[in-house]
Amino acid sequence: MDVSILDAPSPPAPLIPPAPKVHPRPFGGSLLGELRIAREMSRNLVGAYCEADFEDLFTPYTFLGQPGLVVSDPASARRVLTSPNYVRPVKANRPLRPLVGEGLLLAEGATWKRQRKSLAPVFTPAAIGGLLPHFQDAGAGLAEALDGRSRVNLAEAFHQAALDAVLRALFSRRADAEGAVLAKLARRYMEGPAHFNLMDYVSKGADDLTFLDGERRRIGGQWLDAVDALIAARRAAPHPEVRDLLDRLLATRDEDDAPPSDREIRDQCGSMLAAGFETTSRLLFWTALLLAQDPATQNRLRAEVRAFPPERVASLDDLKAWPLMRSVLFETLRLYPSVPLIARTALEADEIGGFAVVPGCMVTISPWLIHRHRKLWDAPTAFHPERFLDQPHPWAVEAFLPFGAGPRVCIGAGFALAEAQIILANLLARVEIGLASERPVIPVASITLGPDHEPDFILTPIVQARP
Ligand code: HEM
Repeated sequence: MDVSILDAPSPPAPLIPPAPKVHPRPFGGSLLGELRIAREMSRNLVGAYCEADFEDLFTPYTFLGQPGLVVSDPASARRVLTSPNYVRPVKANRPLRPLVGEGLLLAEGATWKRQRKSLAPVFTPAAIGGLLPHFQDAGAGLAEALDGRSRVNLAEAFHQAALDAVLRALFSRRADAEGAVLAKLARRYMEGPAHFNLMDYVSKGADDLTFLDGERRRIGGQWLDAVDALIAARRAAPHPEVRDLLDRLLATRDEDDAPPSDREIRDQCGSMLAAGFETTSRLLFWTALLLAQDPATQNRLRAEVRAFPPERVASLDDLKAWPLMRSVLFETLRLYPSVPLIARTALEADEIGGFAVVPGCMVTISPWLIHRHRKLWDAPTAFHPERFLDQPHPWAVEAFLPFGAGPRVCIGAGFALAEAQIILANLLARVEIGLASERPVIPVASITLGPDHEPDFILTPIVQARP
């Protein structure tokens, strides 16, 4: 017997982070069962899945009299997201509209096409490269705010940092007085009216009984007023040269060379803020949570960051110095996709995976489900960043859809990844991240995927070795 094999230390068991209970059987099948699903999904969009959902690639269902199909087959999901036959359903838009108006996130048809085309130059790699100093400042601001603090609510700190980053990138403003107003409003919105309610499930039109959505309209109105105030301040004191996304938005022109209206600028800014900071702050939170539970990966990541400190990042290309960082972020997005559910409605009849799709059928594509699907991944529930390390093009991994796919793929993906890398690097260069308690953190989803409680983290300053 080869004794050396017995003596060799066994590799550490992969981290399996906790998740909501997977129900043994589906709830549906009766009106009572469907109401139970509606209640469960209003509380937690990823809380009503059953065992079979992680094994099946297609699940047809009827929900409150409406036909639907869950599509977890990656090729079919990508086909749906690419096809003009499928549009965002009215019900998916209802919780978002008060924050984003008619901006890119919810626009459809020719209006969407025009907006997407005119916004494309705002998100090119060159334009995002120009935003790196804003991300550096936000990362340094976070490190400064945490300096000397040992027990910290990082969910809150990342919320603030991601808002700071997007405000700097959009308006060249820090998360100062106006920023604090927006942060508070966003928090109240995400904790309350962002959750789906029964009216959203049964509504046929965007405005059906929205007078019942008082809190959505109230907070949404205050949010858009705060955005208006930031734009008015810029119009009153324009920059001499392009410094941020708002400068680029103001300079966009449509096919007839017309500038965007005030309302369109406001709705685009509202969309960027709403789509941009909650999603990225969630990504930062889940990454910190995983790293706190996997000190070996955290140490390797720190070594990578110390070999190329964040202050040296001058271009998007420099981020290639952190391959493990990118893999850790991708693996976090796999396990905890900030947007856990993407919905579409069929305009015309179709067939997907042998299942008939009637006009009006709701097609659900759940990155949460696809990313943890037992037929699509090895060790689907394990945190294993190495699975992305050898992938030259992780985007080409068919079953990996954190930013959606097709023409409506997230326009801010490059922005979010650059921002998250720089903010995390600033933190890891200074502190070790641990958890204050062993209480499991369970994901709870409304529009984005957040934690059931915000745990305290323990931050231990890194003692720098003497040269
Ligand atoms: C971790 C961060 C992020 C994740 C996981 C994420 C995810 C997504 C997903 C899945 C979609 C597609 C939704 C659908 O097809 O129905 C989307 C769309 C969008 N995202 Fe992001 N996003 C992130 C960050 C950002 C940032 C930073 C911005 C802007 C600064 C942004 C702006 C948008 C916009 C405007 C759309 C709509 C695009 C369109 O419909 O043409 N996102 N995002």
